[in-house]
Amino acid sequence: SRKIETLPDPFKMVEKELKPFADSISELVSSDQPILSMAAKHFFEKRHGKRFRPTIVQLVAKAVAAAEPEAILQDDGETFTSEFLLNKDPSDFEKTGGVAGWQWSGASKIDVEGGMITPENHKGSDVWRKQAQLGQIVEMIHVASLIHDDVLDEADTRRGGEAVHKLYSNKVAVLAGDYLLARASVLLARLENTAVVQIMATALESLVAGEIMQLKSAPETLLEMETYLRKSYYKTASLICYAARSTALLGGHAYGSTVATACEEFGFHLGLAYQIQDDILDFTAAATVLGKPALADMDLGLSTAPILYAAQEAPHLRPLVMRRFKQKGDKKAALEALYKSPTAMNKAKELAKFHAQRAVDALLRLPQSESRDALVRLTHAVVTRKK
Ligand code: FPP
Ligand code: FPP
Ligand code: MG
Ligand code: MG
Repeated sequence: SRKIETLPDPFKMVEKELKPFADSISELVSSDQPILSMAAKHFFEKRHGKRFRPTIVQLVAKAVAAAEPEAILQDDGETFTSEFLLNKDPSDFEKTGGVAGWQWSGASKIDVEGGMITPENHKGSDVWRKQAQLGQIVEMIHVASLIHDDVLDEADTRRGGEAVHKLYSNKVAVLAGDYLLARASVLLARLENTAVVQIMATALESLVAGEIMQLKSAPETLLEMETYLRKSYYKTASLICYAARSTALLGGHAYGSTVATACEEFGFHLGLAYQIQDDILDFTAAATVLGKPALADMDLGLSTAPILYAAQEAPHLRPLVMRRFKQKGDKKAALEALYKSPTAMNKAKELAKFHAQRAVDALLRLPQSESRDALVRLTHAVVTRKK
């Protein structure tokens, strides 16, 4: 058992490989319409985010290069310890109502051909180039969704500055997002891997489904943890988990292989852990720290994990959740109940850690490598981050 702090730093590990990312992506998103170039480039050059997704893609690419195609890998019993990621019995958690019986399930089989890639010949190979390209595509999709999201949420700030719709206008923001999405689709097709195109197109579909679910779910379903988790999967986890599976496919692993499935399962749980942590931070962190509005979810009528747990204990919150905090005083009452509850916030934190642990469990099905271990550390960082 190793301490988390001794594992390789995920961001340092891919730093060099992501450097050319900035230049090539700004080329990829330039258009003969200066306004679109400006709006799009802005978020890749001046105010790029943490590049969390391309970092994952790059690390998964390295991790799967170390795996034999179609190898059935045994869990070698290795565990990691930290204050937070203790190996715990999932059923303990289910007893608390945490995962509401909803589990990840696999998809249909698509076969892809692949050659033998090793950690030694991976870097600089065609496979590696395509995986790096996928990382850029994923970041473009992510930025497109953020630009649109800020229009939908009427959020004025993003990444510590003005949102695109504030810098320009709603119309420009809608078009800039559309443009990035269109560019991403062209680049995706250029990968010439129909399974990957299909998977990533499904990811796009999921993102939209998640937003619609968030907007239009029936009132009685808003109290259900399952609705919340499903929405979080669509809106956040789907992009990471489909990107992780696609990376494995580009690396020559078959669709139904242990390796590709472990990657997808890792992305699934990491994405959920990430969104749950994001929803916790909406209550616990300041806007100045987040670089985007805080305490914003209830304003949008959204109930996330902390509130849902509070409502399980305090029945008077339930009608408020169902009417999306529309009446005067609703938000204040919900906040008070949340802060008064000794357990609601902790349960939400436990839920994030539960999914982080599941993500680590999936990673441990891959053979040991530096990049795999860096992904373990990254997973830990996601649930301990403060912004
Ligand atoms: C995605 O950002 C960002 C995250 C999921 C944050 C993850 C952050 C860490 C793992 C940082 C911890 C760092 C260290 C060095 C321990 P986003 O989807 O909110 O948008 P962005 O693209 O603007 O970042
Ligand atoms: C951020 O969530 C938003 C998303 C993760 C997805 C947004 C998706 C769309 C707007 C659908 C359109 C999709 C495309 C590809 C253009 P949040 O509002 O909870 O997080 P925030 O606090 O960072 O704003
Ligand atoms: Mg938003
Ligand atoms: Mg939103």
